[in-house]
Amino acid sequence: MHEFFPLILVGGVLGFVSLIFIIAYMTIRKQKEAIGFDRNMKDSEITRRLLVYAKPHIGSFALVLLIMMFSVAYDIVSPILMGHIIEVIKADFEMSYLLAMVAVYGGILVVSLICTYFQAIILQRTGQKIVSRIREDLFVHIEKLSHNQLNGIPVGKLVTRVTNDTGAISMMFTNLIVNLIKNCFVIIGVLTAMLCLNYMLTFMVLCFVPFIVLFTMIFRKFSRKAYRRVKDGTTDINTFLSENLSGMKIIQIFNREAGKKDEFDKKNIELGRAKRGEMLVFSIFRPLVYMLYVSSVLCLLYLAARGVIKDVEFLGQTITGGLVVTFYSYINKFFNPIQNLAEQFNWLQSAYASAEKIFTIFDMVPEVQDAPDAVELDEVKGEIEFRDVWFAYKEGEWVLKGVSFHVNAGDTVAFVGATGSGKTTILSLLCRNWDIQKGQILVDGRDIRTIKISSLRRHFGQMLQDVFLFAGTIRSNILLGAEGIDDEAVMDACRYVNANHFIDKLPAGLDEEVRDRGNNFSAGQRQLLSFARTIVHKPSVMILDEATANIDTETELLIQDSLEKMMNIGTMLMVAHRLSTIQHADKIIYLSHGEIQEEGTHAELLAMKGRYYALYSMQFEKERLAKGEHPVA
Ligand SMILES: Nc1ncnc2c1ncn2[C@@H]1O[C@H](COP(=O)(O)OP(=O)(O)O)[C@@H](O)[C@H]1O
Ligand SMILES: [Mg+2]
Repeated sequence: MHEFFPLILVGGVLGFVSLIFIIAYMTIRKQKEAIGFDRNMKDSEITRRLLVYAKPHIGSFALVLLIMMFSVAYDIVSPILMGHIIEVIKADFEMSYLLAMVAVYGGILVVSLICTYFQAIILQRTGQKIVSRIREDLFVHIEKLSHNQLNGIPVGKLVTRVTNDTGAISMMFTNLIVNLIKNCFVIIGVLTAMLCLNYMLTFMVLCFVPFIVLFTMIFRKFSRKAYRRVKDGTTDINTFLSENLSGMKIIQIFNREAGKKDEFDKKNIELGRAKRGEMLVFSIFRPLVYMLYVSSVLCLLYLAARGVIKDVEFLGQTITGGLVVTFYSYINKFFNPIQNLAEQFNWLQSAYASAEKIFTIFDMVPEVQDAPDAVELDEVKGEIEFRDVWFAYKEGEWVLKGVSFHVNAGDTVAFVGATGSGKTTILSLLCRNWDIQKGQILVDGRDIRTIKISSLRRHFGQMLQDVFLFAGTIRSNILLGAEGIDDEAVMDACRYVNANHFIDKLPAGLDEEVRDRGNNFSAGQRQLLSFARTIVHKPSVMILDEATANIDTETELLIQDSLEKMMNIGTMLMVAHRLSTIQHADKIIYLSHGEIQEEGTHAELLAMKGRYYALYSMQFEKERLAKGEHPVA
């Protein structure tokens, strides 16, 4: 039996290595850390939802599978052909036959390459189509979320969902699934072919499979952990970056560069470590599988090498030189897919994790939605009423406590009150940015919950406290994609709100570039642009939340003048900080802690000598002091 001694030696070494691995595996199992991908959704549900997106492309996938069969066939047939060629050379060498065989081999190879090419092209196209669709749906869905829901998810997270996570899914469709299927076919095909050729040698190869399975299982544990660490590190560094890059100016102003650098360094080093850990896992696993492969090839050569010269018997079966070459090739084709399968299952896991995150966003039901029988409003006169409105951002913490007021169509109402008294809240409830908990808000006598949101918002012009300008031009920021409005109308709107003064001075006029968030314009200019943006859409009701930001006196006068003009367009609800602007309002409402304290015209409220009167006197006094006049005794 001394012939089998080297085989026993190989077995012994493999056993020893496996033992070390089992011990390592047991150690890591003891550290009961959150290993793996904790998920709430079932795999079957994720699969079902992914299939919904894949279904329209079923034809392409079928075509790819068909093409794939050619490359599988190549993997199975080519080693046999190779062995055959060897045998032909050995037996009676005939050049023309050899050339013919080489030509056949070359032909199959070319066909297989062409197939691989088309397979890649079709898959890429299909995968991209699927992912574009998911991305689009995701964006549309995010657009429907209420302000409350949007406040709950950091922007960076949403960006990651729309880009990175859809990317992982795209990889799954373009690469993973098909390769997984292909690898399964190759493994089965190669195994069958080997069995047909020589079952004793096949048995020898199969002896290595338990080791592969063992290594793979252990690899998966380690790699999941490493992968999780890399992913966490990446998210961590992304979140840090997105926040700190936006706040870079503050960091500079407060001289916090060094401190922030240290914080960044820590995260950076951690990510580097995590990446190295991941590499380490792979760098152990790959050589190990390679070692198994080499061992089995060595066994093959040991058992069969003599067959290259003179056919030998191995446990009753003849081994020829050609067979050795065929098996050599098969062993390679057998081990490769097995190694790939292990890695691909890992990627598949991560793609599923990404898919789950995306579907979790899809599962967020938009809080503010059209009622099934909501109506379209063709025209809004602009009569507005709040009937005992109660509202809380967070359950139990009432921000508005039974607010009731009435505004006639075309009138102007101004809200005053301390910071945090609920002025902005009242304005944002009107357009259903949030839904109220108790009471009713009526527009032209109709509850706003019975009106289509899109139709409501079309008739309302909201000018919010923080003006947001998009990257683009002045024109694109005023139009916001609206069609059928020419430059003349845009300029009319600008003239109406006094924005023309500064636009005319710009070298490119309406085409002047607006940079990210409009930071190349002053606060006052941004405010005027937001007025123009509202006016150009011809709203019936205007909602204005004036910014408190410091504005130069010249621009302030322009704003005040345009505000007074805008009061004539339609109904207007506004929060303005200069009481001189408010004086002309038809009604002034004084809010305190979410309740209406005083209500009336400027003159009426002054006569009441209440809180509005106190506020007015204070501001009046301040202005006098600013002008250098003596205080009234
Ligand atoms: N998005 C929000 N989530 C939770 N609480 C909010 C939110 N916006 C405002 N609040 C709270 O509601 C109250 C009223 O705010 P707001 O209407 O903005 O006041 P004002 O405009 O009069 O200064 C404040 O106490 C504020 O803290
Ligand atoms: Mg406010």
